[in-house]
Amino acid sequence: MQENSKKILVTGGAGYIGSHTVVSLIENGFEVFILDDFSNSHVESIRRVEQICGTSIDFLEADVGDEAAVRGIFEANDFYAVIHFAAFKAIGESVQQPLRYYQNNVSGALNLLKVMDNFDCRRLVFSSSATVYGDPSSVPITESFPLSATNPYGQSKLMVENIMRDLYRADQSWQLSILRYFNPVAAHQSGLIGEDPSDIPNNLMPYISQVGVGRLDCLSVYGDDYNTPDGTGVRDYIHVSDLANAHVKALQALNSEHGCESYNIGTGQGYSVLEMVKAFERASGQTINYKVMPRRGGDVASCYADTRKSTEHLDWKAEYDLDRMMQDLWRWQSKNPNGYA
Ligand code: NAD
Ligand code: WQD
Repeated sequence: MQENSKKILVTGGAGYIGSHTVVSLIENGFEVFILDDFSNSHVESIRRVEQICGTSIDFLEADVGDEAAVRGIFEANDFYAVIHFAAFKAIGESVQQPLRYYQNNVSGALNLLKVMDNFDCRRLVFSSSATVYGDPSSVPITESFPLSATNPYGQSKLMVENIMRDLYRADQSWQLSILRYFNPVAAHQSGLIGEDPSDIPNNLMPYISQVGVGRLDCLSVYGDDYNTPDGTGVRDYIHVSDLANAHVKALQALNSEHGCESYNIGTGQGYSVLEMVKAFERASGQTINYKVMPRRGGDVASCYADTRKSTEHLDWKAEYDLDRMMQDLWRWQSKNPNGYA
């Protein structure tokens, strides 16, 4: 089958990472169908992707846990594979509302896998997270590190990973790829699509960029007494467009491989909170006010990826450096100070 005749179902394709991945898929000749319930996104992001790609995109507003809706999409389309982004992702909220998180993230995936099996579509790329490494004993982290979860969100990712591993053990016709993202940041170079948190951001970079654009006053730096070069937390920030390309590579790798493989998707390079603040100031010309606060519960000192497996098996490598991440983030935030609203 030629790539341009391969149709991909993208659940959660209106969201932050999904929308950038849809751009990469279309640029690489895939056809796309989006399923999204818009619980954490806007239809406007699909319109913007259409603008970037110069093509229209089919989508359905529905819950991935709605069996009749998902069956209906499979009846009407011949999918080569599925990329499953649709999930809730706020760690703090998952602690407050565990049932809602397990229902959405685990039941949604179960429903999707069941319908895929019924329709003999057994290729899946799944959005997992570096959070499944819990509190790693050392860095860089390889895919064979022990897995654990410290909150219901992380547990939901680990549960879906385990379901996928069991599924392949039971039926080797499945072709399954688990991508464990480190810290996705930045935005498409056009400035048309980007991250648009519906509430006050939990993550560092959307918080910094909202301070930069004047929506928020001051960044709280959570702890400066970690065992890191400047005492602030170190993470592996990856440009969302690099991350999007990893999905294309993962799909291409499924061509030849049966199995259930997990891959770290990061740059392999760690930066501290204060390095991120300085890099954003350089790119934006804005001053970021910050104050040092106590550590945030559940944070680890350092987390960055060993990326050798994804480089070797997926023929993928992150290309954008820190300054480019900041320039693209600032272009998006300054052109869209209130996101898609
Ligand atoms: P996002 O919230 O921007 O995108 C998720 C999309 O899924 C949204 O458009 C939302 O409306 C949709 N959705 C949620 N539940 C749904 C349901 N039941 N049915 C249909 N659509 C539903 O989040 P994102 O940052 O783009 O994350 C995408 C995936 O990557 C998620 O699975 C997330 O857990 C995972 N992930 C994200 C990060 C990160 O830092 N952003 C890191 C690691 C893993
Ligand atoms: C990064 C650094 C904070 C906010 C989370 C999830 C992970 C994945 C990505 C989904 C840390 C510090 C942050 C702030 C700060 N998501 N910080 N002030 O915690 O590494 O990863 O998002 O799967 O699972 O855990 O990302 O951006 O929240 O924090 O000082 O206002 O910035 O302490 O050192 P994190 P983050």
